[in-house]
Amino acid sequence: MQYTWKDIEQHVAACTHCLLSRTRHRPVMGRGNHQADIMLIAEAPGGQEDQQGIPFVGQSGEILDRLLQDCGLDRKELYITNILKCHPPGNRDPKEEEKEACFLYLKYETFLLKPRIIVCLGRVAAQRIISQDFRITRQHGTWIYRKNCALTATYHPSAILRDSSKYETTKEDFMKIVKKRAEFV
Ligand code: URA
Repeated sequence: MQYTWKDIEQHVAACTHCLLSRTRHRPVMGRGNHQADIMLIAEAPGGQEDQQGIPFVGQSGEILDRLLQDCGLDRKELYITNILKCHPPGNRDPKEEEKEACFLYLKYETFLLKPRIIVCLGRVAAQRIISQDFRITRQHGTWIYRKNCALTATYHPSAILRDSSKYETTKEDFMKIVKKRAEFV
């Protein structure tokens, strides 16, 4: 049987696969254009996302929107999701068992979307999706290819909040994404 977006959303909404289901306010399903060729994958919802049930609505979201705008991209043309669909208390790193419990949802999202480009935002996503030993400071902006998909990683917007000098580097990585997309059309 082929799952639909609605099916995934309903499963995420009712999920109790890990203990985060006891502390979350709202699970945060990925959002965006279901025809998008670019999929952004970040780490886990923050506090504001947990309240609203929408990815990147807090301060990190503002930075992300600015980056996208500076590169001529718009959230509405992308699909944005997280490795974890529930907020880890205190914004701690996701635990292994939480990442594993949630991974099936990301698999279904990716299967339905079939993106040409996957962009991991930050170390946690890059190490789960690209390779376990991915070093974000050394390898951001580089590409690997799997089947029909080009994968890259850049800094998480929250890293820019902590260190604004990373903005330009991240913007350069996003410009590479725009260029890569142009190769596919
Ligand atoms: N940080 C993330 O990794 N994901 C969000 O959705 C918001 C903040």
